[in-house]
Amino acid sequence: MPLKNANTFSSPAGFTTVNCRRLYMETYGCQMNVSDSEVVISIMKDNDVVHTPDINQADIILINTCSIRENAEQRIWGRLDVFRQIKKTKPDLIVGVIGCMAERLKEKLLEEEKLVDLVIGPDAYRELPVLLEEAGTGQRAINVLLSREETYADISPVRTGKNNVSAFVSIMRGCNNFCSYCVVPYTRGEERSRDPESIFREIGGLSAGGYREVTLLGQNVNSYGWGKNPGTTSTDFSDLLEKSAVEYPDLRIRFSTSHPRDISDKLLHTIARNPNICKHIHLPAQSGSSRILKLMNRGYSREEYLERIAAIRSIINDCAISTDIITGFCSETEEDHMQTLSLMEEAAYDFAYMFKYSERPGTDAAEKLRDDVPEEIKSKRLTGIIKLQGRLSARSKAADLGKTFRVLVEGRSKKSELELYGRSSQNKVVVFPDTGLKPGDYANIKVTRFTPATLIGLPV
Ligand code: 5AD
Ligand code: SF4
Repeated sequence: MPLKNANTFSSPAGFTTVNCRRLYMETYGCQMNVSDSEVVISIMKDNDVVHTPDINQADIILINTCSIRENAEQRIWGRLDVFRQIKKTKPDLIVGVIGCMAERLKEKLLEEEKLVDLVIGPDAYRELPVLLEEAGTGQRAINVLLSREETYADISPVRTGKNNVSAFVSIMRGCNNFCSYCVVPYTRGEERSRDPESIFREIGGLSAGGYREVTLLGQNVNSYGWGKNPGTTSTDFSDLLEKSAVEYPDLRIRFSTSHPRDISDKLLHTIARNPNICKHIHLPAQSGSSRILKLMNRGYSREEYLERIAAIRSIINDCAISTDIITGFCSETEEDHMQTLSLMEEAAYDFAYMFKYSERPGTDAAEKLRDDVPEEIKSKRLTGIIKLQGRLSARSKAADLGKTFRVLVEGRSKKSELELYGRSSQNKVVVFPDTGLKPGDYANIKVTRFTPATLIGLPV
């Protein structure tokens, strides 16, 4: 049932009139959520709901949420308060919470002072149109069922990126790793891989539409697998990557995230062999202490992790490596912390995401371990980790001085109208003078200096 304040549009030919409601979306959390929001917008579009970037125009607000740390959820509660204010002046407005927080908190979100009309978990987005109608008639609209099969393989995401250069392609969903601190296996369900044919179709469509770069997404892309049953052709992640790279030589291929336990030499050789597979691996270590890694249920020791770093360095020429680090995990001592710092030095990361441990209800760590590192110590250790990474990032950029990189242009620099920016294969942002290139063009840029965030150079 269309809402009272629905917007009415005529087709250009003027023959049909369609009642279109307008959807405003906010997306928090990981790249996977960005990709999911594009699927949601596509589902809505097929049901005559148009996407608007203007919250004031919205008949429906959906917030795609993240539960990975407590502060991520706090931020979303803050946004829901803002939406409540808007709803006061617009009683027909529908506010929906989708994604990980919807999955984790379920009914609690509907009960909370009428903040929310609609709650939908990550595997139930196909139900959105039906649930929207229910919410529109004042019923409780909730679906948080997780699925073993859903990959949204047949849905063409509506791209929402800033440029038409780079797009995300989701290749799998869920996670089976159960790292003891992590809520993802509970909010996103079991790991399942998407049919490679549908992945190639999506990549082909992007290539035909003028895109120049795709990022293949999964919680643990290295365990991608299709057709493992007898009689079917099996495709592992290396095969998927290589086939994408060979079939679309004009596209750059990126991927995220790799699990250190599953990153094989076969994959490293595939990356080395194909010039259009980007030379950047995001390989979250989480900790440098084997004792803590065991408590985290990561499935590798410090030594095994460093052996994989050495393999990357020896097999792939000039490969950037980035990481995630959690500091202050249960029982972490000063000695464990020092081991994290020394692992970071040894791995010589180009970039890192660094977090304080945040206990998540329902996880193994919350059930079985004590969150016993005091907040001040977590903060102090995090500061030390960030400082060290600052030095490592500067060292990595200093090593790029004088080198020439092939940069894919993404747009105009935020700081100067006269400059463009793009990324190297290593995923480093490079800024350079505008010589009339357009987003999607390549430029060969020689690095002349750098700031903490970017390389700066000149075309050669
Ligand atoms: N506390 C802090 N950081 C976490 N991450 C996942 N769960 C938690 C948690 N409970 C971090 C990990 C992961 C990244 C996506 O978020 O480093 O790799
Ligand atoms: Fe969470 Fe570990 Fe799965 Fe990553 S691999 S999503 S950290 S459980």
